Amino acid sequence: MYVAQPIEWTDHGVVMLDQRRLPAEEISYTYTDYREVAKAIREMVIRGAPAIGVAAAMGVALGVQRSAASSVDQLKREFPEICDALGKTRPTAVDLFWAIDRMKRRFESLLLANSDLAAIRTAMVEEAKIVHLEKLATDEAIGRFGAAFMPRDGQVMTQCNAGALATAGIGTALGVIRVAYEQGHKLHVLVPETRPYLQGARLTAWELHRGGIPLTLITDNMVGHFLKTGKVGAIVTGADRIAANGDTANKIGTYQIAVLAKENNVPFYVAAPTSTLDLSIPDGEHIPIEERTAEEVTHIQGVRIAPDVPAAHPAFDVTPNRYIRAIFTEQGVAKPPFTETLRGLVKSRHNAGAV
Ligand code: MRU
Repeated sequence: MYVAQPIEWTDHGVVMLDQRRLPAEEISYTYTDYREVAKAIREMVIRGAPAIGVAAAMGVALGVQRSAASSVDQLKREFPEICDALGKTRPTAVDLFWAIDRMKRRFESLLLANSDLAAIRTAMVEEAKIVHLEKLATDEAIGRFGAAFMPRDGQVMTQCNAGALATAGIGTALGVIRVAYEQGHKLHVLVPETRPYLQGARLTAWELHRGGIPLTLITDNMVGHFLKTGKVGAIVTGADRIAANGDTANKIGTYQIAVLAKENNVPFYVAAPTSTLDLSIPDGEHIPIEERTAEEVTHIQGVRIAPDVPAAHPAFDVTPNRYIRAIFTEQGVAKPPFTETLRGLVKSRHNAGAV
């Protein structure tokens, strides 16, 4: 089945598919400077929490590989600048910070081992490639755990785009749907268009269509209507940050879907890698919500659709844990009480030797 490739490390630089142009055009850029990678993340050339993490890891690697430093000491002084530039791009997706921290740890271990400049450059590139490779395995595991919760035959709903484009693997929420579909579940996906940036209409519809999975595109204000008909068997979305108690930040609009799901007895699931867990914060109140420009609301693809008035654009909302039936991760499935079960999953990740 077709799997989109949003990002790739090549000998020429970091190649990214411009997700802003999909589905009309498939255009890629090759970045050779970490600052360009930071700009691409901020401007949504690449988006989706895990894919942002991969981009950040590759950005750090690019910064180290292409640095003009002629000694390890010089590189050591430059390194925090590289990490800071990438860290200042999108505040909600915790995978970004997870990936930068991981690259920092690798850098420190190379310094401790007294590696020379060439060895550091090579090893940092290798680490970024591993971060990317791991996404595939992680998504496939999430998919296998989550598929068991999908109906054998019927409709499922998602939100935004949590597919291959968003993870650089097979996707989290769409990975669950894909694995279930490949296992023989007869699924039909309801795809809310996800205003204002239209990740549902532009990206999820494109991915599912290319993958041959049946779908129907709906506008965001049709969600309640479709959930009330009783014909939706499950909802599965991705996540940008999950607090210790299971409160989950995801694309704006997810919260209202979860509330309507509870009202209509439709199970609401979240699919995310353990790198999206932020156990350092107790609940969703502590999750920073990215504010994007009003222009993304007043305009669609550059065309003004509203008068010149103020417009709000919180890019994410937080779904309280009480609306979430289960969280699928690569380590297993967490069910309430999430404070205990999520901690257990992270422990098993550490026991398995993962970083
Ligand atoms: O603003 P975006 O497009 O980066 O938001 C993406 C989402 O909200 C996704 O649902 C989330 O990052 C999970 S992606 C597997």
